[in-house]
Amino acid sequence: MGQGIYLHAQGTRYIDCASGTFNLSLGYSAKEVIAALHEQLDRCSHLSSDFTRSKSADIFESMREFLPAHIKSFWFRDVTGSGANEGAIRIAQKATGKTDIFSLFLSHHGQTVGSTGVSGNAFRHRSFSLPFTNSVKIPAPDCANCFYAQTPDRCGMLCAQRLEDFVEYASSGRVAALIVEPVLGNGGNIVPPDGWFAAVRESCDKLGVLIIADEVQTGFGRTGSFFASTGFAADLRPDLITFAKGAGGVGIPVAGVLMRPDLDVLEPWEHSTTSGANPLALVALEETIRYIRNHDVLANVVAVSTPLLRGLGDLSRRFRCMSNVRGVGLMQAFDLPTSLDVRTFIEVAKRHGLILRGSRYGFGRTVKVRPPLIITEDEVGELLVRLSDALRAYEKEILQS
Ligand SMILES: Cc1ncc(COP(=O)(O)O)c(C=O)c1O
Repeated sequence: MGQGIYLHAQGTRYIDCASGTFNLSLGYSAKEVIAALHEQLDRCSHLSSDFTRSKSADIFESMREFLPAHIKSFWFRDVTGSGANEGAIRIAQKATGKTDIFSLFLSHHGQTVGSTGVSGNAFRHRSFSLPFTNSVKIPAPDCANCFYAQTPDRCGMLCAQRLEDFVEYASSGRVAALIVEPVLGNGGNIVPPDGWFAAVRESCDKLGVLIIADEVQTGFGRTGSFFASTGFAADLRPDLITFAKGAGGVGIPVAGVLMRPDLDVLEPWEHSTTSGANPLALVALEETIRYIRNHDVLANVVAVSTPLLRGLGDLSRRFRCMSNVRGVGLMQAFDLPTSLDVRTFIEVAKRHGLILRGSRYGFGRTVKVRPPLIITEDEVGELLVRLSDALRAYEKEILQS
């Protein structure tokens, strides 16, 4: 049973710091959204996208105030982030007549063959023989582990400047797009340094490469603006934006692609799925947008992220195992010494009523802290107390073993 930010399960009242599978942006019980879904179920549970086209157009209009001004078209025929990213890749390839896709080390863009192919983690490939066709991976802007062994004050932003070399020496010479998460979520909540978005935009402009912002995690308010590309990552000026996860508010699957009008090049048969633009997905999307507007959710994220970040900083000074607190809005994280520590700590935290997730599916050493966007300041206080108790118990356990 879920209520707000809490999940009551196995006799415990957890604070869900993973927001479900990072998709319960409005928590477990946003009344208006759930009531509208009930009403829609009473009307009908499915319609072909032929019958929902005008509803999609109305919803897009209701999003316009939250979008970069140059984003004027949409494609709402997906229910997963993987599908939306594949749609954006198809659009980029068709519109440019080019083939290759740049993506970042440590990135995650989905689980389908195509979206896994452009994701930058070997552990997702090891057991298969998935095609890598047209995929070129480039170093991520991860200053804590710089690929070029530089420091931010003297690196000259090599991770953005070297794109030309990757076109010349690592690609077919025909690069359609760069796909990028504004905060690399699964890879370890990696926040690019100041100036990286502008530098990447400049390089891509020079090279004629489109930019796809994968906002599957960062979209719908997570970083304090509706999209990261209208907030802290505005200098990226993406040509396409993809969204999923939090867009369904209470966990209803819905996904889509937003784009410049001249990139609206697909025919319906070129990228469309059975459940794409189904009425339940569209109602969830519409009501989530309405809820964010009516309840000032963006302002709440900005307000509560300050005490959360401050509290995490305080804890990292008190507990030696905890380092590198970082994040934007309600997409925060910290590191523990090893990935084994992360896996163990997550179990300890569970005993203290916190649901947390690690990075890179247990292969990373980052703990992510991402409660629903409706969390109050008092609840942030409660979260920090539980986290402190869990860290104390964890350090004691480690010292004893
Ligand atoms: C940034 C990002 N893009 C795409 C995806 C894939 O979304 P889905 O699992 O809905 O296919 C994910 C899922 O975790 C993600 O985090």
